[in-house]
Amino acid sequence: MPPPPPPPPGRLRWADVPAPLRARLEAALGGVVAEVRTPDGGFGHQLAAVLLLDNGRRFFVKAAPDDDPLTVGNLHEAAVLGALPPRAPAPALVGVHHRAGWTAVVVAHLDGPHPDLSPGSGDATVVRDLLAGLTADPAPAAYRAAVGNAPSGVARLHGWDVLLADPPDDLPVELRSLLPLLAAVEARWPSSAGGDRIVHGDLRADNMVRDRFRGVMFVDWAHATTGPACVDAVSLAPQLVLAGHEPAAVARLLDEHPAATADPEATTAFLAALCGHWRLNARRPAPQGAPGLRPYQNRAAAAGLAVLLHRLRR
Ligand SMILES: Nc1ncnc2c1ncn2[C@@H]1O[C@H](COP(=O)(O)OP(=O)(O)OP(=O)(O)O)[C@@H](O)[C@H]1O
Ligand SMILES: [Mg+2]
Repeated sequence: MPPPPPPPPGRLRWADVPAPLRARLEAALGGVVAEVRTPDGGFGHQLAAVLLLDNGRRFFVKAAPDDDPLTVGNLHEAAVLGALPPRAPAPALVGVHHRAGWTAVVVAHLDGPHPDLSPGSGDATVVRDLLAGLTADPAPAAYRAAVGNAPSGVARLHGWDVLLADPPDDLPVELRSLLPLLAAVEARWPSSAGGDRIVHGDLRADNMVRDRFRGVMFVDWAHATTGPACVDAVSLAPQLVLAGHEPAAVARLLDEHPAATADPEATTAFLAALCGHWRLNARRPAPQGAPGLRPYQNRAAAAGLAVLLHRLRR
């Protein structure tokens, strides 16, 4: 068997977790950790690993110190996983453990690769259909309670306004001339961002796993919130371009997706806000332990902008 792919650089390892928390996890999960695998995917610096126990069982665990901002996200994810409706494509929450100033969230293990979103694969259609199902009805009360009333990061995304106010010298001329339009479209997002549907909020291929029994599942619910139905369908659009789809074809897919047809204005505004956020943040210094984030944001901004321009030119 080939060796597993290397973990993303900068991730905490199982050995970095304080011994009392490791012991607590082994006691709670009923076995001794025989092997630890760090899946590829993601940009975080926390522990995100599959624990293989000596009794043959497997669990997925995320852990970080309590004063690490990622712990807030992990606890939010745990609350969300415990409150999603059974039809949601998500793994079950197994437990939350606190020891020695660290917190670990344990989730049912999913067995498989990231879905293949490229044009030749059926996974893109599967994801599109999953999103239609997930957003067809209002979020249940338990989910709304879990995500709370705090304004979500999704609703606050923007970036073109900042670039317009002080355009960087190295911004390509074509993009510079589009800034007033992009900032105006993006400005409509905050007033469209309210809604009662389940929003994953960070949908990318590496935040999905194609489990060999359950099919494609969404993981990494740390940014989950409520909002208009279109949010995750819009987030998927640049990912499809990055996976090799033509921007024009993705724009057509978005035109036809039930989550987007419900509110075309919000769809366009959120796509603009998301691309603006990526374009602006790609210029900032890389956060510690996440060297791949800024290059990804650059690629994603270009991919999303290509789809957005198709929408705006119609
Ligand atoms: N339940 C699971 N079973 C198996 N593998 C999983 C499971 N959940 C996530 N993974 C894998 O672990 C990787 C990292 O997990 P996750 O995305 O939840 O955290 P993160 O990458 O730290 O967050 P971010 O995407 O914000 O950087 C995922 O890309 C996926 O490959
Ligand atoms: Mg992730």
